[in-house]
Amino acid sequence: MSRATSVDGGVDSRRLAAIRRALLRHYDRHRRDLPWRGTADPYRVWVSEIMLQQTRADVVGPYYERWLERFPTLDALADAELDDVLHAWQGLGYYTRARNLHRAARLVRERYGGQVPRDVDALRALPGVGDYTAGAIASIAYGEPRPAVDGNVRRVLARLFDIAEPSASALDTLASRLLDRRRPGDFNQALMDLGATVCTPRSPACAACPVARWCLARARGTQAERPAPKRRAAVPSYDVGTAVLRAHDGRLLLVRRPEDGLLGGMWSFPGEVARDGESVEDAAARAGRAASGLAALGRGRPAGSVVHVFSHRREVYHVFVFAVPVAVAGAEGAAPRGVWVAPEELGRYALPSAQRRILGLVEGG
Ligand code: ADE
Repeated sequence: MSRATSVDGGVDSRRLAAIRRALLRHYDRHRRDLPWRGTADPYRVWVSEIMLQQTRADVVGPYYERWLERFPTLDALADAELDDVLHAWQGLGYYTRARNLHRAARLVRERYGGQVPRDVDALRALPGVGDYTAGAIASIAYGEPRPAVDGNVRRVLARLFDIAEPSASALDTLASRLLDRRRPGDFNQALMDLGATVCTPRSPACAACPVARWCLARARGTQAERPAPKRRAAVPSYDVGTAVLRAHDGRLLLVRRPEDGLLGGMWSFPGEVARDGESVEDAAARAGRAASGLAALGRGRPAGSVVHVFSHRREVYHVFVFAVPVAVAGAEGAAPRGVWVAPEELGRYALPSAQRRILGLVEGG
């Protein structure tokens, strides 16, 4: 064993210092050119980090820029209607992030006079901000020496130190010791970039890695098994009968989902999970009747199905198109839970991506 590798798994301070230096040097030369790089505006950093929680950086870029045109300041976001916020988020998925961001903007204005807090505990108390995001905002926007361990960083650390199943606290300790205290925001982003571009889940590019020579997993040939895959519980699957009600003048019936549920506050076609023994067509008709207020619908024309996997459940939308006479669709009060929308107006409604795919199935049909 060399002097630089100690019995505690090679976490001695000289080795850490060498890794730190090499990572920052690499970041200074090869950092990804991302639209939030170079800003320390806490609101902007916060928006970028919430978007990046479940979405890749290259996808986030255009959304982030459009978002800032629409809501350039925390005040603008706090003043906005939820509908507009969800509309701006449309396409990014995991809409709870948008609802939380909106709620949190209002809280920051009430509690902190509109100034995003610098303290990680205050940050963590905001809806949608966990340990990782609090550390990222504090370090990037305020230069606070806080680690930020996301999935990419977890993988990099698990490999560097060859740990199969690193606990959150072990990762936090390692990341804190490795952190560059003069440039914590850059350092955290250097680790994230390394995980996203070099130390990738499959086939890591060890030959291009600035810290390969200190990587224990590489030395032992265990990169592919680090970290060990998490055992995920299988997500339950639901068959949803989905009703596209089309009036003879082309208008379609949309319903707004309850604010506190899945995809809360967004618009969708009426749908109900099929009950035991109920066909998906009958479930679709039941949903269509409830949303439209019509006592009866004719037979639905099957238009195919769309699958969407959420973090905790999978839904299969079985789509049926029901033709409705204009006179009925247009009658005042005929849609107690929905609105009849002309096709050219659909763009104004925040529709989740699965609902857009449903629309794609029935368009032109
Ligand atoms: N992933 C999460 N936050 C990030 C950031 N600031 N830069 C790059 N990737 C990220």
